Amino acid sequence: MSLQSIKYSRGSLDILDQLLLPVQSKYVAVRGVEDGWKVINKMQVRGAPAIAIVGCLSLAVEIYPEEFENKKRLRQEVEGKLNYLVSARPTAVNMKIAADELLALANDLTKDETIDVAAMKDRFLNATEAMLEKDIADNRAIGAHGAKAILKRVAETAGAPTGTTGPVRVLTHCNTGSLATAGYGTALGVVRQLAELGKLEHVYCTETRPYNQGARLTAYELVHEKFPATLVLDSMVAALLRAKNVAGVVVGADRVAANGDTANKIGTYQIAVVAKHHGVPFYVAAPLTSIDLAIPGGDHIIIEERPDREMTHVGEHRIAAPGINCWNPAFDVTPASLITGIITERGVFKPEELKEAITKLLES
Ligand code: MRU
Repeated sequence: MSLQSIKYSRGSLDILDQLLLPVQSKYVAVRGVEDGWKVINKMQVRGAPAIAIVGCLSLAVEIYPEEFENKKRLRQEVEGKLNYLVSARPTAVNMKIAADELLALANDLTKDETIDVAAMKDRFLNATEAMLEKDIADNRAIGAHGAKAILKRVAETAGAPTGTTGPVRVLTHCNTGSLATAGYGTALGVVRQLAELGKLEHVYCTETRPYNQGARLTAYELVHEKFPATLVLDSMVAALLRAKNVAGVVVGADRVAANGDTANKIGTYQIAVVAKHHGVPFYVAAPLTSIDLAIPGGDHIIIEERPDREMTHVGEHRIAAPGINCWNPAFDVTPASLITGIITERGVFKPEELKEAITKLLES
């Protein structure tokens, strides 16, 4: 059983507090949008898909017990609160895309004369709740497409028929697993799928300084799943790719621009550079809800900067010289030219094919 980061039933939402992991497993109640904004902003819940799901479900638990005079009032409430939730963290696009979709639904329902305000609220809650199952189904599809792509590439390189090569070693960065999603995970879903196929020889995960999502969260998930796994420090990636015959790197995304440039956890870019140097394929695994076709390239992505304290301290313990200046961007942008493939729930695309392929998929 994979870990459950989000527990929801109509009117009630609890999230696993990721600030306390791996030492303590404690759920915190999210009673409405104010709580939702705080748990996202403080990173008690994190990971692009989980941010969107928790944000939207926090709105669901808030409006569930409320009575609205009319549909216009409900729509107004939803719009204001969704905009507020989008402001909790700037880089991941998933919350913004979810907000746009839910607002479009609220607009349609407001205009629909066949339903009253109670039915409108019910339809709105159903749509919000559907995000949980859809995310897990999407992640399973991402896992299947990603594992297939990695194994195909290994077979091609070896000049062997697909499916005839042995288990592979992969590297991942940050946390993209059950904790970062509704379940199964994106890049970690690919790892999970390789394991399910009996094709995972070993997975390496980076520590992911300074917030340590790799050491605290991915390592926790890998140990929980009993996968053959090893933790490496971020500074060891070049040495690892040189020494360990890694077949592929697979990471998640917070926002993929139309040209394939990808914002993901700080350190992703340098791993992609090192992977290119060593001829190791570099994959981004992300649902369509992480793809922002509205921006042409990575320069348009706002990169969140976080407090110095995340760098200067480990817990309560200061590790940096007092008085030193810090620069702490939480994400970086990997240029499309370093990306072998973008693994989505609808297939794997080369960065240069992405815009046209996704536009077609969204139209169909
Ligand atoms: O700052 P975080 O922990 O929210 O950053 C998370 C990442 O960068 C993940 O790789 C990304 O959100 C994808 S999670 C499926």
